[in-house]
Amino acid sequence: MAGVRLRSLLFLAPLLLLCSLSFSQGHRHGVKPITEEYYDRILLYYTNLTVAIDKSPWRLQVFDNKTEAAILSESTDIDKKLGFGLWEGEYLNLYEGYLFRVGDVTRWYHATSLLSYQKPATFVVGTSDTENNATLTVVIDNPSQFKLSIKINVNHPGKGNRVAMGFNLVNKTEGFYGFGERFNDANQRGHRVGHWLEEGSFGLGNWDKDLRVPKGELCTYAPMPLTISSRGYGLQMDMYHRTVFDSKRWDDVMYIEAEADFFHMTLFAGKTPRVRVTLS
Ligand SMILES: *[C@@H]1O[C@H](CO)[C@@H](O)[C@H](O)[C@H]1NC(C)=O
Ligand SMILES: *[C@@H]1O[C@H](CO)[C@@H](O)[C@H](O)[C@H]1NC(C)=O
Ligand SMILES: *[C@@H]1O[C@H](CO)[C@@H](O)[C@H](O)[C@H]1NC(C)=O
Ligand SMILES: *[C@@H]1O[C@H](CO)[C@@H](O)[C@H](O)[C@H]1NC(C)=O
Repeated sequence: MAGVRLRSLLFLAPLLLLCSLSFSQGHRHGVKPITEEYYDRILLYYTNLTVAIDKSPWRLQVFDNKTEAAILSESTDIDKKLGFGLWEGEYLNLYEGYLFRVGDVTRWYHATSLLSYQKPATFVVGTSDTENNATLTVVIDNPSQFKLSIKINVNHPGKGNRVAMGFNLVNKTEGFYGFGERFNDANQRGHRVGHWLEEGSFGLGNWDKDLRVPKGELCTYAPMPLTISSRGYGLQMDMYHRTVFDSKRWDDVMYIEAEADFFHMTLFAGKTPRVRVTLS
């Protein structure tokens, strides 16, 4: 029981903090970056953050303007970088308390290179879906000094219901906290953390201390698609659709999937929560 209470507190602290940030900052849209365009790269200088877009192959990175340290670096691996696709399968309505489904991603396409750029920060990106000439529109906004909004939409005539993007992890010590109420651990590095509502799973006592039925240890009735990395930044998915933060599939990236044909995310990039609150 004590364990459960401790974990509840652990997830509540970062959660309350980020919530208060989201609400206290209001919406200060339209902070226009100073832009510099080179043949292979576009740089957007916001007050404290620099966004670097590599044109070909496409790549998104965010740096601290002062220290030049990378905050977010999109993976350059085509399996892990920005992409979209189609999941096909069946939802099994066995019992309303849990999500049961069988299926798989049957088609996947990745971002290739920048096709066009419109100031201040709208990017149209080509994809490997050359059959439909599908593109991705990426719009970046800086609602407050240490916040960056990244909105990605898929433009294609076909069907699509997944968009995902992987960010490189610095090393094995980077941890991910938050995610709402979870019962397995405070640090979710190495787990595939889904954000949808289910009942909790049941333990089997001494019979098998690790087994949780019916759906493993990550079921929760209070998920939140929001995390704080031990490196000090936070990521939040701004959508009501199911999302997954996966650092299990590959150990060198945090792979974030949205179960929709768009991907809307906020990066909280202050060094510490205190900096974000006082300077925003
Ligand atoms: C953010 O940018 C402003 C303006 O350049 C600067 O005065 C301030 O020190 C920066 N804050 C941090 C934490 O780097
Ligand atoms: C910080 O931003 C300014 C423009 O506001 C730019 O001239 C400078 O190069 C940037 N520094 C880094 C390290 O990106
Ligand atoms: C995709 O683009 C190519 C070259 O511009 C064009 O020939 C083809 O008809 C396009 N296909 C579709 C489905 O729009
Ligand atoms: C991992 O990266 C962090 C942040 O850059 C650094 O402080 C730490 O020393 C690194 N740890 C190891 C084991 O490399």
